Amino acid sequence: MNPTVSASGLSLHYGRTRALDEVELRLTPGVTGLLGPNGAGKTTLLRVLATAVPADRGSFTVLGHDPRTARGRQEVRRHLGYLPQTPGFHPGFTAFEFVDYVAILKELTDRRARHREVRRVLEEVGLGEVRGRRIRKLSGGMRQRVALAAALVGDPGFLVLDEPTVGLDPEQRMRFRELIARAGEGRTVLLSTHQTEDVAMLCRRVLVMAGGTVRFDGTPAELTARAAGRVWSSTERDPGAKAGWRTGTGTFRNVGDPPAGADLAEATLEDGYLLVLDGMGAGVAA
Ligand SMILES: Nc1ncnc2c1ncn2[C@@H]1O[C@H](COP(=O)(O)OP(=O)(O)OP(=O)(O)O)[C@@H](O)[C@H]1O
Ligand SMILES: [Mg+2]
Repeated sequence: MNPTVSASGLSLHYGRTRALDEVELRLTPGVTGLLGPNGAGKTTLLRVLATAVPADRGSFTVLGHDPRTARGRQEVRRHLGYLPQTPGFHPGFTAFEFVDYVAILKELTDRRARHREVRRVLEEVGLGEVRGRRIRKLSGGMRQRVALAAALVGDPGFLVLDEPTVGLDPEQRMRFRELIARAGEGRTVLLSTHQTEDVAMLCRRVLVMAGGTVRFDGTPAELTARAAGRVWSSTERDPGAKAGWRTGTGTFRNVGDPPAGADLAEATLEDGYLLVLDGMGAGVAA
């Protein structure tokens, strides 16, 4: 499949901090998850792709448009929906007013058509009933949905979602996954998260970032497979474990290099992620 978004050699420094270091990227339609520890560079990468901040070096295209020219940047923005890590709501706005404001910025100038679009996206995220309520009176989960509605205005081909499920209760998170999965039909969605279950349940592809570079690029099943044969349980803490903890049943669950004859356990995507971060995911792809 031809990539809809591709980046090459993207680098960005903040003073001495290398927030992005030669990032290579090829995205195709569907949902791609972006995992990585705090400070890995996820938000920085998403901000660069959303044209909120320019890279120092490297280039990228979104749906064939190159943001290095003013014209190209405008085209990228026209095809983009962005949910930032900390959406800047005006708390006095109603949900409708906020999304309408975003729609104006997205150049939907015809008032009636714009209002129709604002109602459509608010319905889509299940907020049709509360669209007249002030944002400060909405719950955290509802606010996240307002932010998603704003990102969906104008039916963008490329959706950038920075930790959209943070702070949601399990039921809300599941509903949000449904919304994102629907949004990913026919669109390219790049979503950062700290929830490995989000990736396991939602994403077609997964990228793992650390220290400003992409350490893994593959399917969720391939990431899980990195930990095959490397997870085991034991009654005592195992010195060969990179990570090990006592579970609720009293036995230890270990991830790393198992000793001979170890009682192997089934690996999860989180185990694969931990091993990639530890540099143990053999044949780490970039
Ligand atoms: N505006 C800024 N000024 C200076 N340094 C910054 C700025 N934004 C990010 N950084 C630094 O760049 C690096 C990457 O930060 P970034 O926010 O992209 O990480 P992240 O992967 O999104 O982390 P988190 O999971 O905590 O959201 C960090 O070292 C951070 O301190
Ligand atoms: Mg971040």
